Amino acid sequence: MEATLASTSTTLPTFPTTFSPQLHSLRFSPAFREKQLAGAGNKNPTSLLKHDSPRRPSRRFPLRVSASSQASPEAAAKVSAVPSTMKAWIYGDYGTVDVLKFDESVSVPEIKEDQVLVKVVAAALNPVDFKRRQGKFQATDSALPTVPGYDVAGVVVKVGSQVKVLKEGDEVYGDIHEKALDGPKQFGSLAEYTAVEEKLLALKPKSLDFAQAAALPLAIETAYEGLERTGFSSGKSILVLNGAGGVGSLVIQLAKQVFGASRVAATASTGKLEFLKSLGVDLAIDYTKENFEDLPEKFDVVYDAIGQCDKAVKAIKEGGSVVALTGAVTPPGFRFVVTSNGEVLKKLNPYLDSGKVKAVIDPKGPFPFSQVVEAFSYIETGKATGKVVVYPIP
Ligand SMILES: NC(=O)c1ccc[n+]([C@@H]2O[C@H](COP(=O)([O-])OP(=O)(O)OC[C@H]3O[C@@H](n4cnc5c(N)ncnc54)[C@H](OP(=O)(O)O)[C@@H]3O)[C@@H](O)[C@H]2O)c1
Repeated sequence: MEATLASTSTTLPTFPTTFSPQLHSLRFSPAFREKQLAGAGNKNPTSLLKHDSPRRPSRRFPLRVSASSQASPEAAAKVSAVPSTMKAWIYGDYGTVDVLKFDESVSVPEIKEDQVLVKVVAAALNPVDFKRRQGKFQATDSALPTVPGYDVAGVVVKVGSQVKVLKEGDEVYGDIHEKALDGPKQFGSLAEYTAVEEKLLALKPKSLDFAQAAALPLAIETAYEGLERTGFSSGKSILVLNGAGGVGSLVIQLAKQVFGASRVAATASTGKLEFLKSLGVDLAIDYTKENFEDLPEKFDVVYDAIGQCDKAVKAIKEGGSVVALTGAVTPPGFRFVVTSNGEVLKKLNPYLDSGKVKAVIDPKGPFPFSQVVEAFSYIETGKATGKVVVYPIP
């Protein structure tokens, strides 16, 4: 198994504007509508689901987007190069991967004054993509239908009137949803174009290609925010639960390379221990053979990226911290939900450009745009190493 590390093209040895009052409707191709209608009445997808949050009926109404009406003639000329419709993956009901449909004529999202339109080159999946699609966050989700996808790397093709720095032609990357669970956008990154607030983006590190850049935003911002929230600093030790996953593989690298950890331990299954070491782990713990909470060594911080907070609290030194990403929380552990922030990416860009911190792309990918269903099925196994990337798009 080989997981690809970014920046130095290293391959791991063992792995791998004013607003117009116009309202625009999200358009679907006749084929998508037919499929949706054919599916209706056969089953109730939501009946297949488990819910983390109170269920509420799926809302399905036309998308309302504001359009910039103050484009200069030059800008208008460039804008005319952007088509009105695009290829995108979309779902109109919550459910299994079966709800995902490929649609060739979804309307290209219009940008708000603080947004840019990105021509998507690569995207990546995160567990939140399938949990959202399963309806687990529907209490706070945007209205259906949904174009999934948080992570994006691509090229700016249009800028809103209040955009300050970014310009057409800039190569950018970022997590397009400021709040992962609270009203994520209807138009995600698994599409030819996506609209994103400038503040959520950063210029793509020059030494990374688009696939590598797409593998980073949500995971590295989560890794960074979690470490900051624990007050992690130079000389501290850390245990990362699920060191081989999208977030954990970056927590390890940031702890060591950016925060100056004195010692990094991490858990994974037998076949991924060498991979952990290649990321800089000092102590690789095989969770199939050892209970980390029973080890004599204790840590200043445990970063729980798997949902084992009850055990994690037993592995900290007195006064230590446990940060958890998922599952039930046991005090003194705490949980947070990542906030997308382009400033974090800008801060980390030098580490990425120099190769000190590397993107990890699962060797089963990148998945071409035609295989988004396969990409979802794969990440849903919970066995991915690093990130599940979708490239090229389209
Ligand atoms: N709160 C937030 O803001 C936030 C942000 C990002 C992610 N998350 C959540 O955090 C979790 C991790 O996300 P992710 O993207 O890193 O997931 P991921 O990449 O899908 O994780 C896959 C990895 O989990 C490992 N794994 C499975 N069972 C394990 C165990 N018992 N102990 C250690 N490792 C185990 C697998 O390794 P093996 O093959 O070796 O088992 C695999 O490499 C997800 O639940 C996600 O929804 C939350």
